[in-house]
Amino acid sequence: MSDDSIGKTLGVALAVCIVCSVLVSTAAVKLSSIQEHNKKVDKIKNILQAGALYQDGMDVVKTYEEKIEPVMIDLETGEQVAEDIFNEELSIETFDIKTISEHAEYSVRISQKNDIAGIKRRPKYMVIYFVKTAGEIEKIIFPIYGKGLWSTLYGFVAISNDFKTVEGLTFYEHGETPGLGGEVDNPKWKASWKGKQAFDKNYELILTVLKGAVDPSKPGAEHQIDGLAGSTITTRGVDNLVKYWLQDQGYGAFLAKLRSGGTNEQI
Ligand SMILES: Cc1cc2nc3c(=O)[nH]c(=O)nc-3n(C[C@H](O)[C@H](O)[C@H](O)COP(=O)(O)O)c2cc1C
Repeated sequence: MSDDSIGKTLGVALAVCIVCSVLVSTAAVKLSSIQEHNKKVDKIKNILQAGALYQDGMDVVKTYEEKIEPVMIDLETGEQVAEDIFNEELSIETFDIKTISEHAEYSVRISQKNDIAGIKRRPKYMVIYFVKTAGEIEKIIFPIYGKGLWSTLYGFVAISNDFKTVEGLTFYEHGETPGLGGEVDNPKWKASWKGKQAFDKNYELILTVLKGAVDPSKPGAEHQIDGLAGSTITTRGVDNLVKYWLQDQGYGAFLAKLRSGGTNEQI
């Protein structure tokens, strides 16, 4: 067979394909644990950012372990979940919103009327994060998620120990357009959430993301957030998902318990 015969050319091409596919699959397998680890660290970083505990260059895992106390709660009762129901599928360490919200036993369907976050199902339980100082709750960091324009946004909102004031908000996963809905990652916009009033004196939710900009000279500015320019749908999505999670369908029962003196095991 001559060197430029069709058979030899196809043989070389096939050999190159096989070598490349082996290299790519080996790299994918070898890197998947590193990717998983990086994803976990990024989520921890977002928890710290939402709780205004993050600084550049810090050891995020160490800070998380020192400052954060994760707790699993039952959304319907607002009670802390006893550890004896934990198993391979349900535990604080492995809790994954996407997996649990599809789990037949550990999730509930949301009626269309109540589904303002556009998520169809939600976990029965959620892992929330206490920041405590000398045993006293300083802040609570809540996972939140809901539909934007192109994607479901996953993030955290933190509330201070007056159970009214926002400490921070972050999103660690979404597929909104960079420069438009993707401005949910803009540090300036995220910083604008800190200090806003989520609840009024009767603990009614008053936090609102506007379609336009907040006018600081007008009454109500203290519980309003600027909308994202040219991104009405993402803006409405963020407004809806925050409202969903901070009211009865989400953490309402838990917050009511905390305000009235504590959940079963916490205080
Ligand atoms: C390529 C492209 C990407 C867009 N991405 C977003 C987005 O991520 N979030 C969003 O709310 N709107 C996005 N929009 C704009 C929306 O389609 C819509 O026009 C915008 O939300 C304004 O809505 P309104 O006309 O009702 O104010 C995008 C538009 C285009 C053309």
